[in-house]
Amino acid sequence: MTDFSTRLLAWHFVHGRHDLPWQLSRDPYRIWLSEIMLQQTQVATVIPYYARFLVRFPDVAALAAAPVEDVMALWSGLGYYARARNLHRAARAVMEEHGGRFPVTAAVLAALPGVGRSTAAAIAAFANDERGPILDGNVKRVLCRAFGIEGFPGERVVEERLWTLAEVLLPKRATDIGPYIQAQMDLGATVCTRARPACERCPLVADCVAHAMGRVAELPASRPRKTPPRRAARLAVVIHDGRVLLERRPPVGIWGGLLALPEIPPGVEIRDWAVRALGDGDIVTRELPPLTHAFTHFTLEISPWRFDLPALPRVLAEPAWQWLEAGCVADAALPTPVRRILESLWGNGTSVL
Ligand code: ADE
Repeated sequence: MTDFSTRLLAWHFVHGRHDLPWQLSRDPYRIWLSEIMLQQTQVATVIPYYARFLVRFPDVAALAAAPVEDVMALWSGLGYYARARNLHRAARAVMEEHGGRFPVTAAVLAALPGVGRSTAAAIAAFANDERGPILDGNVKRVLCRAFGIEGFPGERVVEERLWTLAEVLLPKRATDIGPYIQAQMDLGATVCTRARPACERCPLVADCVAHAMGRVAELPASRPRKTPPRRAARLAVVIHDGRVLLERRPPVGIWGGLLALPEIPPGVEIRDWAVRALGDGDIVTRELPPLTHAFTHFTLEISPWRFDLPALPRVLAEPAWQWLEAGCVADAALPTPVRRILESLWGNGTSVL
């Protein structure tokens, strides 16, 4: 993409934010404070906290001298309280290790508690025109979409690629770096948003790969699930005289509309279920071998329980229940694991139902 930074800068000049309280200062202490507060927190929320904080702690010496409880009290309501503890530790480090002069280079800033590589670069850009890339969540999203970058951005190889790209795209002139960094943040926060981005207002839309491919909603890729969650279900295999009890599943949900085995609800004792559902007869009960079945979003661990009824109950406990002749099992609309359970009961081809 040509002129990435030029387009962002031109857009920011007209549409970006220029009057936020921390933009009026080159004081690294004030800029650092704003960047820490703005991590995971929206501008509108931060503004009153920022103002109150600076009244009580106008410089790094005042912050370092305060008890941490006072810092926490002023932070109360902003959330992510580790930020406040790190803020206080960083202020003390500036007093002790830097003689009270707040650092302005990214390399030194990145060594302060709570200041990561991206935040360090942003502070150094705003306070000192230092030319270096940032890569916060907003910037990752813009780059993944604009350049059609696949893969989860939290993954190391993808992140390395994004850092390289962010570096290549930097404007050449040092005086452009502050506005450019702010432009990236503002574009991600106000136009290239995670949900329902305003592509019609985006200065990059003509060359945006995700937009051209209709994949804006899919990029950046979300965190891959390592293993799908597991759920457990106990299924009842109720048998009487060559018939098995099945349940017609409701039309929506797993196995919608199919004939499945009744589920014994979680937490209910097997014996209690049998008495309530099947009546208080001389029921022979035994646990069958378990099996698992993979759905798209979870894995079901099935424990089948076999109940041999000496006599048919006069009425079935559930309206969705029905008997199926063993001979009809092969042709019935059964979910795969239910079919597997029933077929396993036939052994060498002769029905034992
Ligand atoms: N989020 C993080 N830093 C920011 C900044 N300087 N302006 C707006 N949002 C931000």
